Amino acid sequence: VESHSHLVFAGDRAGEFAARMAGLPYAAGGIKTTIAATRAASDEELAAGVDRLVGEYRRQGTTTIECKSGYGQTVLDEARSVRIARCHADDSTLLAAHVPPPEYAGRADDYVRLVIDEIIPACVAEASCIDAFCEVGAFDGEQTRAVLEAGRRAGLGVRVHANQLTAGPGIRLGVELGAASVDHCCHLTDADLDALAASATVATLLPAADFSTRNAYPDARRLLDAGVTVALGADCNPGTSYTTSLPFVIALAVRELRMTPAEAVWSATAGGARALRRPDVGVLSAGARGYLVVLDAPSYIHLAYRPGVPLVRTVVKGGQVLSAA
Ligand code: NIG
Ligand code: FE
Repeated sequence: VESHSHLVFAGDRAGEFAARMAGLPYAAGGIKTTIAATRAASDEELAAGVDRLVGEYRRQGTTTIECKSGYGQTVLDEARSVRIARCHADDSTLLAAHVPPPEYAGRADDYVRLVIDEIIPACVAEASCIDAFCEVGAFDGEQTRAVLEAGRRAGLGVRVHANQLTAGPGIRLGVELGAASVDHCCHLTDADLDALAASATVATLLPAADFSTRNAYPDARRLLDAGVTVALGADCNPGTSYTTSLPFVIALAVRELRMTPAEAVWSATAGGARALRRPDVGVLSAGARGYLVVLDAPSYIHLAYRPGVPLVRTVVKGGQVLSAA
């Protein structure tokens, strides 16, 4: 179960990735490159891009995918993004508050007003959740709160990109607003940990983004030992994590986040389903839907033990074979 992806976009940022691997730091501003390409693309091109990536996910064992908007950032471009996400993935999240778009440079508050007054009303019918990127260079705590509260008033569930690059207010804000999940969580204070541990909010960790940005990995052990529910996602997007492989994420979680193979597999399946508030998927039990993956391996440990090897033999979604090797 993928609980955090950004698949509605055009173009790629391979050059930015190569420059980063040569030493340049990641900054939220790179998102603007993808915004320009996405605005220039047709609905058909964007939908074809989502279909291609959903196919990649499925071949690697993912049956259920949440997909965010966030590379449109006008009323029309966000509305078509959430519509395409809803039609071509399983769940759609409105991330209009990704970064202030170029035409609002230095006027983030004005963009927040546009999101609240026009973008949310235009998108609410096609999305299940609201999301915002609470970060230096994106939106501060007050702006994030304004967007998330407006989304919640409109009937949307709450998610938030929190504490990815710095220890900001995002995690505590998400918990306070009853977020289904707070995502990234690379910088954790004691107050963040206490808030999460006392809540039903899931911490969604996205170590493939930290791999591709060379940023710090989150402290999964600290979260798990405090009793926080942890999900793992791939965070497929062209800027920080251009992968659709949950098996790769499981391998990273075991090697770099020190999760056990059992914890990592649980977090990538049942944990993702909890983040999506979907008790009917991500588990095999009476009453669940029977979305399952058959591996060409003697045990699930091989998902982490054999990184980069395509072990998924068959993917079944509700009795239908989606992919068979
Ligand atoms: O989840 N953190 C914000 N959003 C994406 C990155 C988007 C981009 O750089 O294009 C993420 O990592
Ligand atoms: Fe993201």
